[in-house]
Amino acid sequence: MTEHDITLTVNGTAHELTVEARTLLIHALRDELGYTGANVGCETSLCGACTVHVDGEAVKSCTALAVQADGAEIETIEGLAAADGELHPVQRGFQEEHGLQCGYCTPGMIMTATELLEENPNPTREEIREGLEGNLCRCTGYQNIVNAVENAAAAMSSGAVADGGAVRWPTDDGDGDGDGDDDDGGSAAGTDADDAGAGGRE
Ligand code: FES
Ligand code: FES
Repeated sequence: MTEHDITLTVNGTAHELTVEARTLLIHALRDELGYTGANVGCETSLCGACTVHVDGEAVKSCTALAVQADGAEIETIEGLAAADGELHPVQRGFQEEHGLQCGYCTPGMIMTATELLEENPNPTREEIREGLEGNLCRCTGYQNIVNAVENAAAAMSSGAVADGGAVRWPTDDGDGDGDGDDDDGGSAAGTDADDAGAGGRE
């Protein structure tokens, strides 16, 4: 089997690796590099559990060869939160609206939803459903997932800031200490990590 030396930049870190020509991107990410956030479901491009961003586009990584991604910038669910652990608004939306149960589909759902909101910051519920039609969930019935994306869209349009293409919560809350922590004893905007429970899987 022919092998190829490739470079994948994942969540900002460049990795050089040698893969077989047949190696799928999902297997390179999970098995070679240890990014296990993207899940393997169907391996036939149906379920979307393996979705990651490749050069900013949501891609089902079970249907791309690793060699096709040589030189690409890849973002996985592990890279979505800010460096200080602050969740991305879409992650926050899924947490607040209980947009998951077993969580198996969730990384792929979130990566698809983030691309959707970058292209269409204010989608209708129907547009959210259309945007997520390539991602299957066996648990939730989808209602809370749509609610989660609506929640994220509202949050991003009202309080988030653009940060090099990614959208994050503001790091300066205006209280003068520049740390982004809400020091008023509560969080009217719901951006404190403890406002909606920790962990994201409830
Ligand atoms: S595992 Fe890739 S689409 Fe299902
Ligand atoms: S939460 Fe279980 S598959 Fe979606």
